[in-house]
Amino acid sequence: DIVYLNGEYLPADRAQISVFDRGFLFADSVYEVIPYYQGVGFRLQQHLDRLAYSLRAIRIETEYDWAAILDELVSRNGGGNLSVYLQISRGSAGYRTHAYDDRMQPTVFACCSPIRDIYADGPEQVQGFKVIVTADLRWHRCDIKSTGLLPNILVLQQAREAGADEALLVRDGLLSEGTSCNLFLVRQGVIYTPKRSSEILGGTTRELILELAAENGIPYQEVDLRPDELAGADEVWISSSTRGVVPVLEIDGCPVADGARGPLWQRMFTLFTRFQHR
Ligand code: PDD
Repeated sequence: DIVYLNGEYLPADRAQISVFDRGFLFADSVYEVIPYYQGVGFRLQQHLDRLAYSLRAIRIETEYDWAAILDELVSRNGGGNLSVYLQISRGSAGYRTHAYDDRMQPTVFACCSPIRDIYADGPEQVQGFKVIVTADLRWHRCDIKSTGLLPNILVLQQAREAGADEALLVRDGLLSEGTSCNLFLVRQGVIYTPKRSSEILGGTTRELILELAAENGIPYQEVDLRPDELAGADEVWISSSTRGVVPVLEIDGCPVADGARGPLWQRMFTLFTRFQHR
């Protein structure tokens, strides 16, 4: 396993960072997860645009050719189907201090791990998800892809212990997203998804679903969604880079509609597969 750390490509067990790194002490850092299929970044530019947004939002100033670094990392790891993780922290002052100044050198770290090409196997292979619905415990800047993921982790664990795969989050009576995915609901042929705000991450896969819907004449609306609307949904989906678009078949132990993968999901899955190969 070769990782990238501050300008060097080296074996993971030789990569070292300071114990005073602010990413470690304060989660003062942002990240991206980018799938590479056959050695090529999927929606790479969209991920890099979001990274620039996150960095700007937490006021880390860095200039790197991210695409060149990540492409090189992928090729040094043999190419193929890999999930690339990129994290940039504010760096270290050499001691623990809440305050920071602009002279700190950001820590740049990237690594990758094998993934399955979710679109190579066809829709039959996709396992539907079971989810729970629970309170959104996060802060109010969920649009920043921060590594401060403690609420996400605690809630995911709660879901796992309830025999579910994910949790849908509710804040102020409205659904926001999952712990590491966006949320979609289908009713009478229309796709509904929570609108972009500081309460959700602007998912690159979410954006692609809306683009493909628009291109193919499938109506969609970005709206406020209440948790009680889940019960009347024909289909519910979640989306993320590493999972693509996945049908949710059970919510809090109750089947979604008839509990089978829906026709619009099948169609969206096919559109994704075609998009990936064009
Ligand atoms: N998570 N919402 C949250 C809170 C997320 O963490 C993610 C992604 C998404 C989907 O974004 P995208 O479609 O760009 O992957 C939505 C990544 C995969 C992770 O944390 O591993």
